[in-house]
Amino acid sequence: MNYDTLLTTIENNTCVITINRPDKLNALNKNVFNDLDKAIDEVINNPEIKSAIITGSGPKAFVAGADIAEFAGLTKEQAMALAQRGQDVFFKIENSPKPIVAAVNGFALGGGCELAMACHFRLCSENAKFGQPEVNLGLIPGYGGTQRLTQLVGKGKSMELQMTGNLTDAVEALRLGLVNHITLSEELLAKTKEILQIIHSKAPIAVSKVIQCINTAVVNIDNTNGYKKEVAAFGDCFITEDMKEGTTAFLEKRKAIFTGK
Ligand code: COA
Repeated sequence: MNYDTLLTTIENNTCVITINRPDKLNALNKNVFNDLDKAIDEVINNPEIKSAIITGSGPKAFVAGADIAEFAGLTKEQAMALAQRGQDVFFKIENSPKPIVAAVNGFALGGGCELAMACHFRLCSENAKFGQPEVNLGLIPGYGGTQRLTQLVGKGKSMELQMTGNLTDAVEALRLGLVNHITLSEELLAKTKEILQIIHSKAPIAVSKVIQCINTAVVNIDNTNGYKKEVAAFGDCFITEDMKEGTTAFLEKRKAIFTGK
């Protein structure tokens, strides 16, 4: 598919989605949200795609935030609608049954940090910088940042980072658990793809249920008990062909071949 603000490629069943507004450090405007919404639908519905990577165009930024130019003159109601729209698109990413990973190649500020945190996990390059600097604008995060940063780094650190607006470099982000790996800039996509290839070799239904159950543990928006959800999802795996294949292959001492059924 073609998008105004995104570049997409599919290689080895991974769709790389690149946010492409480098002159504005890939800031998230309405068009980017509309395009991202469609691109995530494509990831979920296209059987050729098994996973996705979200990254930013250019050497400097993943995404430097929501597009501040779009904030001018908004009423309270319009601001709430803007935040809700952002949250809805990010929920779609978070709840995708296929893995979606952020490859953070520079500034991930405000909405950029929130986008990275909505992904299932994050890798970053050495020059990455994370932050929720909205207080500098007399604002707070609106696309889930107060919730997801707290889930990822804990309440005290989240409070400090969001009240000071201070930025976090790659090494500190790794220490805090905000990212899983740091790479050289030129190796970021290759390392992310390498991890996704490992996931592609596993049973897709089981992978999607891992996502669902872990999301229930940290999000619990529908008031579901995560332990009960895990029991049901565990049972669901038993009626898949891949579960029969995986357990049989183990007992027969051979490598499992999964079909996603
Ligand atoms: N919204 C809209 N435009 C943005 C933007 C944002 N969040 N972040 C950067 N830009 C634009 C700048 O206005 C500038 O556009 P121009 O060349 O037309 O003037 C261009 O991107 C380059 O940014 P610039 O500030 O010149 O780069 P820099 O290297 O000096 O600084 C940052 C980089 C990331 C530190 C700085 O751009 C910044 O602080 N951005 C805002 C971060 C933020 O507050 N995000 C939260 C928003 S809710």
